[in-house]
Amino acid sequence: MVLILALYAGGVVADDGEQGRMLYYGVEIERTIQGVDYTDANCETCHDDAFYQRADRKVHSYASLEAFVEGCNTNLDVGWFPDEVSAVASWMNATYYRFEE
Ligand code: HEC
Repeated sequence: MVLILALYAGGVVADDGEQGRMLYYGVEIERTIQGVDYTDANCETCHDDAFYQRADRKVHSYASLEAFVEGCNTNLDVGWFPDEVSAVASWMNATYYRFEE
């Protein structure tokens, strides 16, 4: 039983990034951002693809990528569980950052 659960957990983390991509684009945050009231803000409301690829980006390792995703998750009350934060970080890494995991 423990083995089966471990395999299942591994499968979720090591998927093709679909879960992370869907979580990333599926977010709807209720929040006022720069004076505008949103009910459907998402990650790209504040930063687009270019932000993750700029020369002075803050993320310099896979661990710090996960920490920043967790930071925005917490600050914005997105409500992702740790495995969901990991899935998003993994997808963002494959898409933008490309660190060794
Ligand atoms: C209300 C605006 C806002 C929203 C919405 C937001 N973020 Fe952020 N995010 C920030 C700010 C501000 C920073 C820079 C933080 C810093 O400089 O310490 C940041 C930084 C980041 C970084 C690091 C970027 C770098 O420098 O490489 C990542 C990754 C990130 N956010 C992921 C997310 C994800 C995933 C979501 C969607 C759940 C999200 N953010 C939604 C404001 C936002």
